[in-house]
Amino acid sequence: MLIDTYGRVATDLRVSLTDRCNLRCTYCMPEEGLQWLAKPDLLTDDEIVRLIRIAVTDLGVTEVRFTGGEPLLRPGLVGIVERCAALEPRPRMSLTTNGIGLKRTAAALKAAGLDRVNVSLDTLRPDVFKTLTRRDRHRDVLDGMAAARDAGLTPVKVNAVLMPGLNADEAPDLLAWAVAEGYELRFIEQMPLDAQHGWKRDGMITAGDILESLRTRFTLTPEGSDERGSAPAERWVVDGGPHTVGVIASVTRPFCRACDRTRLTADGQVRTCLFATEETDLRATLRSDAPDDEVARIWKQAMWGKKAGSGLDDPDFLQPDRPMSAIGG
Ligand code: GTP
Ligand code: 5AD
Ligand code: SF4
Repeated sequence: MLIDTYGRVATDLRVSLTDRCNLRCTYCMPEEGLQWLAKPDLLTDDEIVRLIRIAVTDLGVTEVRFTGGEPLLRPGLVGIVERCAALEPRPRMSLTTNGIGLKRTAAALKAAGLDRVNVSLDTLRPDVFKTLTRRDRHRDVLDGMAAARDAGLTPVKVNAVLMPGLNADEAPDLLAWAVAEGYELRFIEQMPLDAQHGWKRDGMITAGDILESLRTRFTLTPEGSDERGSAPAERWVVDGGPHTVGVIASVTRPFCRACDRTRLTADGQVRTCLFATEETDLRATLRSDAPDDEVARIWKQAMWGKKAGSGLDDPDFLQPDRPMSAIGG
């Protein structure tokens, strides 16, 4: 079991499969991209499957989420999913993606055993999408989501980050659209995890702002707290149901006390938290021919040292060196 000194147990493993991306969202990375990890530094497909197997069979992990960068850019993704679906016990598997490659891959991912997807989409306006992501791929994202829904990778959840002066006024339109399409929309507060270190607390749209904006057009009632568990989204029932909308308020209403996550970066480092300042190198352990129980012991030890929270409210808060795209969202 991956337990920490605060008694939290990590059962949800987030695996970053690549730090690369085919978009350049302004809240994530600069126009020119980043210094990508070199191929020999990345875990191989075999190494990833081995770590997931150890997590599932020896460490109590029940949920595996594949992230990036953009995980659909990883050539071996379908094979990795297929091999993980054969593990005992079989983990639940999901993918967080920008949606661009989904039209091509949704059916194969479903057949391989993927359960569901979360797709990022911040705007319904193609011109705003182009400004925000610096790429003209709005149509591809919409098509990708529809393909995921048609393939049964459901519920399809949609992640939206609102940025002042760009899409801040779109919350009600996004919700009306998601309800009509049958997607579960969640708004995410912008976090200080951008490569450019441009985040400012007073330049951020808060959960409070988002709810106020949604209430101009919808009636929202809180979903009972029982349903939330350790999920980061607080959910609201829209106009009496059955649809819901979520708000992931990592900054103004952190959920660290219920955190059940452990993370692996694409280069094989364990991170105990998105905001962790230290990492534990499992790649070196794997490549030193260590047996499974040694890998498991090091992973457990890393999680034991997990801090209480993100530290975002500390006066001496320091943004982690790695940006979101290299940690896995
Ligand atoms: P499900 O609701 O189970 O689908 O998972 P999820 O919401 O964790 O998945 P997703 O990958 O779509 O993440 C949505 C947002 O939550 C992203 O912006 C993540 O960065 C944020 N998030 C995920 N895990 C954490 C975490 O451990 N701490 C914080 N503060 N935010 C997180
Ligand atoms: N703050 C909040 N959310 C972010 N994402 C990427 N960068 C940030 C940030 N700085 C979102 C993406 C994606 C999810 C994994 O995280 O839009 O939906
Ligand atoms: Fe790519 Fe996601 Fe970063 Fe956007 S937020 S640039 S989709 S990794």
